[in-house]
Amino acid sequence: MSAISIHGVTKSFGDNHVLRGIDLEVEPGQVVCLIGPSGSGKSTVLRCVNLLETPDEGTITVDGAELTDPDVDIDEVRRRIGLVFQQFNLFPHLTVLENCTIAQLKVLGRSAEEAEAKARINLRKVGLAEKEDSYPHQLSGGQQQRVAIARALSVDPQLMLFDEPTSALDPELVGDVLAVMRELADAGMTMLVVTHEMAFAREVADHVAFMDGGVIVEQGPAAQVIDTPQHPRTREFLRRVLHPTEVTLAED
Ligand SMILES: Nc1ncnc2c1ncn2[C@@H]1O[C@H](COP(=O)(O)OP(=O)(O)OP(=O)(O)O)[C@@H](O)[C@H]1O
Ligand SMILES: [Mg+2]
Repeated sequence: MSAISIHGVTKSFGDNHVLRGIDLEVEPGQVVCLIGPSGSGKSTVLRCVNLLETPDEGTITVDGAELTDPDVDIDEVRRRIGLVFQQFNLFPHLTVLENCTIAQLKVLGRSAEEAEAKARINLRKVGLAEKEDSYPHQLSGGQQQRVAIARALSVDPQLMLFDEPTSALDPELVGDVLAVMRELADAGMTMLVVTHEMAFAREVADHVAFMDGGVIVEQGPAAQVIDTPQHPRTREFLRRVLHPTEVTLAED
C-alpha cells in the first residue's frame, strides 16, 4: 500500500485552475521531491494531502485512509503527518523543549516525563540538545527550522511533508537543515518535499515530480528527471534553477 496516493486531483480557486489532474504516489520509506516554478501548484498539492485544502475532484489516500471518505477520522489521519513549512511557526513564548512537548501533551495526552524524553531524543537528532531552554528568537533561522523538524517528529508521524523548508534561510544555514532531512530519509522516513534544492533532490529523493501550470509535466527516478529531463519545460526550469546567472546574462 502506498503511503500517499494521489489520483486525478483537481482544485480551482474561482476560475484559477490551480491543479488540473494530479497523479502521484509516495511509497513507504520513499522520498519524493516536488519541483517546479512559483505558482505551479506545489504547495496546494501538499495542502490537499493534509486537507488544509479540499480537492474538487479526485482522491487522496494516506496509508489506506481515503481523505474524502466521510467515515475517515481526519484528525486521526492528520496526526500521522508531520508538517514543516518555510516559516517555522514556532510558539515564540515557549522554550525549544516546550515547543516540542506541547502537542504530545495536548493532542496525545502523554505525561510530561514521557513528552520531555521524546522531545530530547528528537532535539538530539537535529543537533540542538543544548538549546532546549532557549526561546525561538534566541536561535538562528536554521536552528529554528531544525526545532520545527524536531517538533514535527515528536508526535511520531508516519510521514513528513516539507514545503520549501530552506527557502527562508540564509544560504549558510541551508546545509544544516538539509543534513537533518537527509538523516531522516536515511532512517527510512517517508517524505514528500517541495524544494528548490536540486542537489538535495538529486541525491536524496527516490522520485522527482516536475509541476508546471497545475499538472505534473514529468516524473520519474530523481537522477533521470534531473540529469536527463525529457520535457522542454523541465529542461528550461532546471536550466534556470541550476544556472541562474547564465540565464540573466543571456537575457540582457
Ligand atoms: N487559498 C487560496 N486562494 C486563492 N488562490 C490560491 C490559494 N492558494 C493558492 N492559490 C493560487 O494557486 C496557485 C498555486 O499556488 P501554490 O501556492 O500552490 O504554488 P507553488 O507552486 O507552491 O508556488 P511557490 O513556489 O511560489 O510557493 C497560485 O496562482 C496561487 O495564487
Ligand atoms: Mg509554495
